[in-house]
Amino acid sequence: MKIAIINGPNLNLLGKRETKVYGQQSFDGFFKVLKKRYPSVTLDFFQSNIEGELIDQLQKSGTGFDGIILNAAAYTHTSVGIADAIKAINTPVVEVHISNVWARESFRHTSYISPYVVGVIAGFGLQSYELALHYLMQQTTQDS
Ligand code: DQA
Repeated sequence: MKIAIINGPNLNLLGKRETKVYGQQSFDGFFKVLKKRYPSVTLDFFQSNIEGELIDQLQKSGTGFDGIILNAAAYTHTSVGIADAIKAINTPVVEVHISNVWARESFRHTSYISPYVVGVIAGFGLQSYELALHYLMQQTTQDS
């Protein structure tokens, strides 16, 4: 089973950035734990601060992957291009957010991508990614 995790802008600063909102852990540290915890899953990770690179990566992950866990970060609230890329691929995408976006500023309540993903997981810290992974693992087991 192959799962792609795609992170958008500023998520390279996890552990240093607004730690009250996003926590103390770096994504690299969390990713290592995730890989150890789920040895049966091939986990791929990509982060970019650039919208077009995220679109390229979504297109690439549209084949050869069983699922995509996407935290488009600030682009969630602005990007028609990322929404179109999700629509263009068949790989199921789960939208995740570390923070509870609905408990924050109103501009974070709008997601351009939510209508095109299988579901949204938000507010559980980095555990949001793990919950998304559980969902995708279950789907693949059910399919086979
Ligand atoms: C975020 C929430 C977004 O509103 C914000 O722009 C981010 C991170 C989250 O994971 O909570 O950069 O996607």
